[in-house]
Amino acid sequence: MSLHITVIGTGYVGLVTGTGLAEVGFNVTCVDVDAEKIRKLRDEGIIPIYEPGLEELVKKNAAAGRLTFTTDVAECTPQSDVVMIGVGTPPQEDGSTDLSYVEQAARDVASHLKAGAVVVCKSTVPVGTNHMIYDVIEQANSNAQFAVASNPEFLREGAAVRDFLEPERVVIGVEDKAAQATMEQLYQPFKDAGSTIQVVNIPTAELIKYASNSFLAVKITFINEIAALCETCGADVAEVARGMGLDSRIGSAFLNPGPGYGGSCFPKDTLSLAYQAQQLGSPQTLVEQTITANDATKTRMVQLVKNTFGDDLSGKKIAILGLAFKAKTDDMREAASLTILPQLAAAGAELVAYDPEAMENAKALLPAGVQYADSAEAALQGADGALILTEWSQFAALQPEDFVNSLNAPTTVVDTRNLFCRQTMAQAGIRYVSLGRPTLSAQTDSSTAAAA
Ligand code: UGA
Repeated sequence: MSLHITVIGTGYVGLVTGTGLAEVGFNVTCVDVDAEKIRKLRDEGIIPIYEPGLEELVKKNAAAGRLTFTTDVAECTPQSDVVMIGVGTPPQEDGSTDLSYVEQAARDVASHLKAGAVVVCKSTVPVGTNHMIYDVIEQANSNAQFAVASNPEFLREGAAVRDFLEPERVVIGVEDKAAQATMEQLYQPFKDAGSTIQVVNIPTAELIKYASNSFLAVKITFINEIAALCETCGADVAEVARGMGLDSRIGSAFLNPGPGYGGSCFPKDTLSLAYQAQQLGSPQTLVEQTITANDATKTRMVQLVKNTFGDDLSGKKIAILGLAFKAKTDDMREAASLTILPQLAAAGAELVAYDPEAMENAKALLPAGVQYADSAEAALQGADGALILTEWSQFAALQPEDFVNSLNAPTTVVDTRNLFCRQTMAQAGIRYVSLGRPTLSAQTDSSTAAAA
């Protein structure tokens, strides 16, 4: 028997999940309260976010009749074996999580559930939330026969489609035998394709998500601090990271220094874990330190620019390459640019920014004086230096002469993503400042080049 699935919420998580499940053959209905969003998805196949590969998959599965869209939970929930909640869980001032959308979704489906349905929480939610969802539904409809399951997502923005279709692991938190069987049926195609399915109790599943994201945030922060240390002693962070990563116990992934992690997940989830742990009387001091250190990393980038151009940036025109929190997304949430640009503007710099996807989102969030260019080349034209904040491949494809020909002399590039070879940049006469790697003199001196 094929399963019918309702997915509530058509943001990143909901839309990728719903589309991915349709792609492996299930019948899926995606629900959202935003009628305009649903109309565009249903009538035009237009997706509300920038996510490579997703629009094609939405159109393909909608055309095949496996993926439908509605604003009305009552339309699809009664025939659904699985109801997935993939709505937003925004952070609140104190680090706690706003669960009102999750609660609302639970209340909305309560009176429409098919007997034996599994209500699955995909949203990242604090420990205890799935049991809360159970209580909300039971209070709203004491006749409902259902179970809950936690099934956290591990999707990276920009790679979400592949992450969904080829997951390294699927975590299922479930405490009911029939619900476990339904969940195992749901993920059988993924198991057949080689993914590990891990079945655990509900709090464990909830915590795996927070522990995973927090650990990755710690790993990035660790290398960011090592990068700063490298700058004080002539070591090369790229080689330090490589040397560490060759130890399979450490692994090389997520050891790229950057301007401080951002996005909708790491900042929110580290804060939330720290908050939950405090509430539960088991503080996560390492995660707390990571949050503080990540803020300091963003501010360190401002200092790096000042060390390069001088503390008083008035009269300096700086081209900003990249605004999004990482490449392949238009997402500006907690992007390092949001911390760095206002501080550079406050120090007097004139800023001309370019990002291939995030400029529209950025305009509302950045200081009014920031100018926007139509291309990287246009941003560089006539600027006194460039600051690279996002690792878009089109920036990595720039040639040294693109900087030399466009920027005012002396050609100066501050690169917080270490996109270029220092030797090549120095040989082109560029003063190239990157993270955790000694800056070579901008000349073709062979002794300097050999040190690269
Ligand atoms: C992250 C996780 O990687 C996903 O597994 C998870 O499902 C997702 O959060 C979520 O909870 O929904 P995402 O926020 O899309 O995914 O982005 P990442 O690729 O993990 O990058 C996060 C931040 O860390 C970015 O600012 C990125 O530039 C930075 N980063 C990443 C580094 O500075 N260095 C690295 O080596 C890796």
